Amino acid sequence: MKIIMLGAPGAGKGTQAKQISAKYSIPHISTGDIFRANIKNGTELGKKAKTYMDQGALVPDELTCDLVMDRIQQDDCKNGFVLDGFPRTIPQAEALDEALKKVNQSMDYAIDVDVPDENIVKRMGGRRACLSCGATYHIQFNPTKVEGVCDACGSKTVLRDDDKPETVKKRLTVYHDQTQPLINFYDNKGILKTVDGTQDLNKVFEDIVAILGE
Ligand code: AP5
Ligand code: MG
Ligand code: ZN
Repeated sequence: MKIIMLGAPGAGKGTQAKQISAKYSIPHISTGDIFRANIKNGTELGKKAKTYMDQGALVPDELTCDLVMDRIQQDDCKNGFVLDGFPRTIPQAEALDEALKKVNQSMDYAIDVDVPDENIVKRMGGRRACLSCGATYHIQFNPTKVEGVCDACGSKTVLRDDDKPETVKKRLTVYHDQTQPLINFYDNKGILKTVDGTQDLNKVFEDIVAILGE
């Protein structure tokens, strides 16, 4: 099963993708998490990506596409994968299509987690992220068992650098300009599914399971 998670920053793509990954035993591939891991480890890629991310801008397609194409060719992706945060431009979506076409494959589902902008800004200030394993929490809606400590790996949880209100607003603008057109792109391919992301996070997951099957 090959799935794309679509949705605005903070819609809950990562939260849902982690659950999909666990239930269907397919890897969760988040370009944002990959960039953040590179920033944390001080790699060249991380240094380049950081300048864009801190401004709420997109990292250029050249730096992003090859990374994902390499990742989806790895052995653990044989039975599928869930992409979170990629593609987020039409050229990225076309590159993904081309790469899959070469091996006679195509994506199965593009799930749009739909949340209006008003709700997003409220959510982001309460988000806490683990930069070691990519887990995401919310101080109110999805708290860690011990405050400030990741349930999954025990590392410290932090407020992401790009979750400041001004940067969130910029990310929303970039989303509407560059990523929202993908909703039509995948609708035209007949694989778009929309879920109401304003519901409780367990209910959102139930709706996704109803689409993907038990
Ligand atoms: P990325 O890491 O992908 O960030 P994003 O798309 O802005 O999305 P987020 O991770 O902020 O939100 P999410 O939808 O995963 O929500 P979450 O589950 O955490 O990208 C960051 C940056 O990297 C980009 O700005 C760009 O610079 C660069 N980048 C990445 N990919 C790129 C690409 N392909 N091309 C170019 N550049 C790229 O949930 C949010 C919060 O809400 C959490 O606290 C969560 O606990 C809570 N929550 C979730 N669901 C619910 C619910 N139903 N009810 C209440 N609270 C909820
Ligand atoms: Mg995320
Ligand atoms: Zn962790």
